[in-house]
Amino acid sequence: MMKKRVALFASLLLFLTLHDRLTDAQSNSTAEALALLNWKASLQSLTNRSVLPSWTVSSGTEQSPCRWFGIHCQGNSVFRVNLTSYGVKGSFHVFPFSSLPNLEEIDLSINGLFSTIPPQISQLSKLTYLDLSYNDLSGEIPNQIGQLIHLKTLHLVQNQLNGSIPEEIGQLEPSKSLPCKITI
Ligand SMILES: *[C@@H]1O[C@H](CO)[C@@H](O)[C@H](O)[C@H]1NC(C)=O
Ligand SMILES: *[C@@H]1O[C@H](CO)[C@@H](O)[C@H](O)[C@H]1NC(C)=O
Ligand SMILES: *[C@@H]1O[C@H](CO)[C@@H](O)[C@H](O)[C@H]1NC(C)=O
Ligand SMILES: *[C@@H]1O[C@H](CO)[C@@H](O)[C@H](O)[C@H]1NC(C)=O
Repeated sequence: MMKKRVALFASLLLFLTLHDRLTDAQSNSTAEALALLNWKASLQSLTNRSVLPSWTVSSGTEQSPCRWFGIHCQGNSVFRVNLTSYGVKGSFHVFPFSSLPNLEEIDLSINGLFSTIPPQISQLSKLTYLDLSYNDLSGEIPNQIGQLIHLKTLHLVQNQLNGSIPEEIGQLEPSKSLPCKITI
């Protein structure tokens, strides 16, 4: 009986591991790389140097952004973008919200990001950490941030944001894991 249980448990673990692998395999690192390059093309340097020189694609069929500066992957898919204090100016207009299915953490604090936080941010359904503090973002905080049910940390302090804090962020819903750390 005990042996059977152990075997069952082991096959469950195996299944979960394989399942993770398969889920991961569905991500497309070439698509992620190209989408990030499109965003890079819209960025400028605040310090007159070349922006993100490591963000390039080589010739060949399969591309990966996983060795690029500020990019961290799990498997072959981007899970963190960290360009804190990098000295870039730009916006989220062409940020690839729909092309980074495994993105969990964004740290773009202390840069020159301007314009608005688009509602499309809600497409980053796995997002747990969002730090956009110390930029020049303006306009209102989109309500759609409330759809990011895994968000635990949200830092928006020191921007030009106006309007009110969306109710969705502060609402206490037992079914949701709400941000634990918020600075706005
Ligand atoms: C991955 O994305 C690239 C670029 O968008 C595309 O050309 C390629 O067909 C995709 N590969 C798969 C397996 O979907
Ligand atoms: C960058 O610096 C060089 C030399 O210091 C200067 O000639 C050039 O105009 C600067 N470019 C920008 C975009 O500020
Ligand atoms: C981003 O990188 C900086 C150091 O470059 C580090 O202090 C910070 O914790 C990182 N942020 C995240 C979310 O990992
Ligand atoms: C917030 O700022 C934008 C421009 O950045 C403006 O159009 C909008 O009316 C402002 N909203 C509030 C509530 O002040």
